[in-house]
Amino acid sequence: VATAAEISLAVEVLAQGGLVAVPTETVYGLAADALNPDAVRRIFELKGRPTAHPLIVHLPAPREPSAPAWRELLERWAVDVPPLAVELASEFWPGPLTLILRRAAHVPDEVTGELDTVGLRVPGHPVAQALLAGFAARQPESRTGLAAPSANRFGHISPTTAQHVQDEFGASLLPAQDLRAGSPLPQRVAGVILDGGPAEIGIESTIIDLSQGWLRILRPGAIGLEQLHAVMARTPESELRGTGLAEAQLETVRAPGMLDLHYAPRAELRLIEEGELAALLEASRERSSGLHAHDDVNRHILSVSAAAVQLPPVAIIASRELLNAHALPRCFLPIRLGASLQEQARGLYAALRQADAEADLIYAVLPPQAGIGIAIRDRLRRAAGRGESPL
Ligand code: TXA
Ligand code: MG
Repeated sequence: VATAAEISLAVEVLAQGGLVAVPTETVYGLAADALNPDAVRRIFELKGRPTAHPLIVHLPAPREPSAPAWRELLERWAVDVPPLAVELASEFWPGPLTLILRRAAHVPDEVTGELDTVGLRVPGHPVAQALLAGFAARQPESRTGLAAPSANRFGHISPTTAQHVQDEFGASLLPAQDLRAGSPLPQRVAGVILDGGPAEIGIESTIIDLSQGWLRILRPGAIGLEQLHAVMARTPESELRGTGLAEAQLETVRAPGMLDLHYAPRAELRLIEEGELAALLEASRERSSGLHAHDDVNRHILSVSAAAVQLPPVAIIASRELLNAHALPRCFLPIRLGASLQEQARGLYAALRQADAEADLIYAVLPPQAGIGIAIRDRLRRAAGRGESPL
C-alpha cells in the first residue's frame, strides 16, 4: 500500500497537471486537479472517453465532520443545496455515494460535460483521503477537488486493483514507487498509480441526483434503497418542504454517458438466473455424448473442436456455494465469488477480467435482486450489453 512519501509525490504530480490513479473503496479512479481544465482533458485523452461525459469531483472530508461542515463543503461546489443533500452527506460520507447537485459557476465545463450540474463524492479510502488532504494543503485555493472517473479505458471493466489499472494503461502510468522525488515524469508518462490494495466494495458508487427538486437514483451501488429511505424518513418534513423533496420520488433513470454497453469484457457474456444453472450444465453434459448439438454451448465447443485446436474453456462466474453444489462438465472453468453479496460485489470485476483472459464465452449467474445484488445485476446487464433499468 502507498507510503506517505509516495502520496506526497502524487500530490506534486497533480499540482503539475499530471494524473494520479487513486484507490477508492469502490473502484480505482483516474484523478486530476478538478480546477485545471488542461489536466482534466488529459483524463479524457488517456481513457479515450467522449468529452460530453461528466466526471465526479472527489472532495476531502472536513476535519471535524458535522452537518454545517458538510453543507459548507457542498456549497463550495454547488448551489441550491437542499437539506437532504446535507443529510445524505452526514450519513454516508466518506463513502460510496455520489450526489448530483446544481453546479457552482467556477466548476470547469471540462468536468461537468457542460451540464449545469456537478457530481460530488467524498471517498472513504484512507489513501484517497490522504491524497485529497495533501493536495488541499499544497494548493492556495480554499476549494480543491479531484475530478476522477474510473481508471479504465472507455467502456472497459472498472479496475479494483492497482494491477488492473496498470493492465489498462501500460506504460502511460508509472507505479508511484518507481518515481524519484524531485524528478519530473518521464516523456509520454501521464501520471502515477497509487496502490491501495483491492477495493473493498468493488463496484462504483451509488449516484443520486438531487438537482431536479426530487431524488433520482442514476446508478445503483453499495448504498441501497433501504438505507436511502431511512435517511429520507428521518428528514423533517419542514426541511424538505419548499425544495420539492417532500414528495421525493425514487426514480431510476439513465445518467448521461451511461451507455447500454459498458463495463464490458471482450468475450461474449451471457447471464442466467440461479435456477437456470442446472439445466445449462445438463445440456452441455449431454453435448459431450453428442446428443444435443443444438445447444449454444455445444455449437461453441463443436466449432472449436472442428478447428482442431485445444478446447477453450467456457468460464462460469457464480458464488462458491453454488458452483460447489453442482458437478461441472470439464469444459467449464469455474470462477468462484464469495458467499455474501458484499463479497460477490468485491470480486465481480476481477472475476470478469479473469474470465475474459481465459475464455471466449462467459456465463455469469445473477445474484438475487436485493441490497447490493441490485447493483451487481445492473453491472452484469451492462457488461452483457443490456442496460435495462435495475429497479
Ligand atoms: O465509485 C465511483 O463513483 C468511481 C470512483 C472512482 O469514485 N467513479 C466512477 O466514475 O465510477 P465514472 O466516471 O466511471 O462514472 C461516473 C458516472 C458517469 O456515468 C457520469 O455519467 C455520472 O457519473 N455523472 C457524473 N457527473 C454527472 C452529472 N453532473 N450529472 C449526471 N451524471 C453524472
Ligand atoms: Mg466508469
